[in-house]
Amino acid sequence: MELYEAIHTRRDIRKFKPDPIPKDILARILDAAHHAGSVGFMQPWNFVLIEDVPTRTKVKQIFEEQNAAAAQNYTGEKQNLYRSLKLEGILESPLNLCVTCDRARKGPHVLGKNSMIDTDIYSTCCAIQNLWLAARAEGIGVGWVSIMEPQTLQDILNIPAHVLPIAYLCIGYPVEFRDKPMLQEVGWESRVPVQDLIYLNSWGSPWDGK
Ligand SMILES: Cc1cc2nc3c(=O)[nH]c(=O)nc-3n(C[C@H](O)[C@H](O)[C@H](O)COP(=O)(O)O)c2cc1C
Repeated sequence: MELYEAIHTRRDIRKFKPDPIPKDILARILDAAHHAGSVGFMQPWNFVLIEDVPTRTKVKQIFEEQNAAAAQNYTGEKQNLYRSLKLEGILESPLNLCVTCDRARKGPHVLGKNSMIDTDIYSTCCAIQNLWLAARAEGIGVGWVSIMEPQTLQDILNIPAHVLPIAYLCIGYPVEFRDKPMLQEVGWESRVPVQDLIYLNSWGSPWDGK
């Protein structure tokens, strides 16, 4: 698949077929993640693959609790709409994956991570985006679940204290790749015109795009 096509057809996936991901495809997707840029070539990520259903059931429980709490941010019709949204596929997907960031990897000082100390986290997000796009090119869906309590997730997965869970992902063959984001389809949010987000020389100064 051509890169721009993968970018434009990538979707967050919450509904999965049960079919397992072939090991060679999974290995390619993880290798694509591992080829992301990282500050000082730190490669701070790990990939915790979670097949085990009892573990995933515990994670789903955190989601349920956090999702119920999140619904309280809304009232009336908006709350009803929020409650109707499917925002994870933890148990339906054949595989879950927690992408972590080891904040101590490569020692106390890493080239480039001096004044912008969260660049290890940014690097991990670059790996996640690589993974998401590589998966799309392979016809595999990825859904990011952030409605999660990180410390409980850390405990369930035995992640050491100096390692942050950055993304909890559900992975598998999707029921469909929608044309548009689900949140757009249900009228929750829509894409901002990119032109509105681009400034020239200083904040707020428009760019004419020519
Ligand atoms: C950091 C991050 C966290 C997200 N968390 C969730 C989530 O908890 N549940 C969910 O359904 N989607 C989640 N998403 C997916 C977004 O809702 C989705 O990317 C956005 O609506 C645009 O849709 P698209 O990815 O299909 O283009 C998350 C995406 C990102 C990048």
